[in-house]
Amino acid sequence: MTEVQDRRAAEAPADDFLRFPPDFLWGTATSAYQIEGAVAEDGRTPSIWDTFSHTPGKVNRGDTGDLAVDHYHRWREDVALMKDLGLSAYRFSVAWPRVQPTGRGPAVERGLDFYRALVDELLAAGITPLATLYHWDLPQHLETPSTGGSAAGGGWTVRETAERFGEYASLVAGALGDRVRHWTTLNEPWCSAFLGYGSGVHAPGRTDPGAALRAAHHLNLAHGRGVAALRAALPGTAELSVSLNLHQVRPLTDSPEDQEAVRRIDAVGNRIFLSPVLRGRYDTDLYQDTAHLVDWEQLVRPGDLAAIGAPIDQLGLNYYSPAVVSGSGASRDNCHGSSEHSPWPGSEHVAFHQPPGELTAMNWSIDPTGLRDLLDRIHLERPGLPVIITENGMACEDYVTPEGEVNDRDRIAFVHQHLTAVHRAIEAGVPVAGYFLWSLLDNFEWAYGYAKRFGMVHVDFPTQRRTPKDSAHWYGRACRTGAVPRSLS
Ligand code: FCB
Repeated sequence: MTEVQDRRAAEAPADDFLRFPPDFLWGTATSAYQIEGAVAEDGRTPSIWDTFSHTPGKVNRGDTGDLAVDHYHRWREDVALMKDLGLSAYRFSVAWPRVQPTGRGPAVERGLDFYRALVDELLAAGITPLATLYHWDLPQHLETPSTGGSAAGGGWTVRETAERFGEYASLVAGALGDRVRHWTTLNEPWCSAFLGYGSGVHAPGRTDPGAALRAAHHLNLAHGRGVAALRAALPGTAELSVSLNLHQVRPLTDSPEDQEAVRRIDAVGNRIFLSPVLRGRYDTDLYQDTAHLVDWEQLVRPGDLAAIGAPIDQLGLNYYSPAVVSGSGASRDNCHGSSEHSPWPGSEHVAFHQPPGELTAMNWSIDPTGLRDLLDRIHLERPGLPVIITENGMACEDYVTPEGEVNDRDRIAFVHQHLTAVHRAIEAGVPVAGYFLWSLLDNFEWAYGYAKRFGMVHVDFPTQRRTPKDSAHWYGRACRTGAVPRSLS
């Protein structure tokens, strides 16, 4: 028995606990730009997020990921923390600009070495790694080539970037494939496409709805190319997925206008990814809603949909909060940052409303039924396809008490409610394979900078001191025992 298994057995729960399947993956998630820092070390070049965060006015207080939480130098300490807490899995992302600084050509071995060492350390600690190939840090060179060179530029709006992603995926698979079994190609392509090129609140900060739709297709194609590259490089045991932030969309009223608003948001928020990935097609209503913005016939080339629809082994689901929409009215889509430009091409007149329920520090409503509804939907659409919750969590106003503790009871309640929803879904027959809490550490929360704390481990940013919050101890126990209490006392 390993040390962790020993502790699991010793803490085996009584019957007032919800028990999860024995092979359930219990982990936390992070992403490279949000935690690594070391942006100019070992051959790494800027990503679109380096450029964006250094552009005045784009990120709260001018924060950048230059240092982030210095994980590039503190990774051993961070893995030791996970081991101490008893986590069984960890989702991290590989920084494309560390591996291929210009987005093409041979790999920089020093960049890959960082991830080789990280994965070895995880495995030695009994922690299953799940690698994300792309969590928003496109090499800047693929967005705007600094020299004429051979790169086309244009980022995800150009097809070439999907081909480049396939090449990058092969390099990473070649380096880590003997150690990593669980892979997700892209994190939340909806955000990359529609916040990056539509509303402009994320890098590269463009505000062109047609470009956002082109980006969405090229991200789908990149996923397809990534799956092909991973399958070619990895043994048959690899588990491949893509992590989608599906929107649980509800109508404000039963009126036909509000139902129509739901249909539109579902098309451009969910089915634009689900349909090609799971069924190898785009839906007719999506084409119709956006025909004035993009020439789909020219965009989608023969063979693209077959590549995108290649079988996956799991679907990654990231869930935070549901959305309530109506056909008209005052919009407050504050889930996705404020911008005068809509992140919803073809649905600009749809209004967003604050859903009921308590709010997190992001002003996102807390509603675990949204997670359950999405799990049921996936199960209905693709019975038998395992789902991994690759992100779920909440931002709180956390602080360290004079006793050196962080009493984040609200986060414990949040995670408990969502794990309970997951457990109910499993009992109802939905094959949920794991849960990754966002996030291991407080970190660079994109356009919000360091102002929002999602970690189960508190980070004092000036000193980089890590302090596990109460939620870390609570979640660690759940991981070690494979169970959560039926109710919180
Ligand atoms: C998700 C992102 C993740 C983090 C959480 C709060 O959309 O994938 O990086 O920012 O939101």
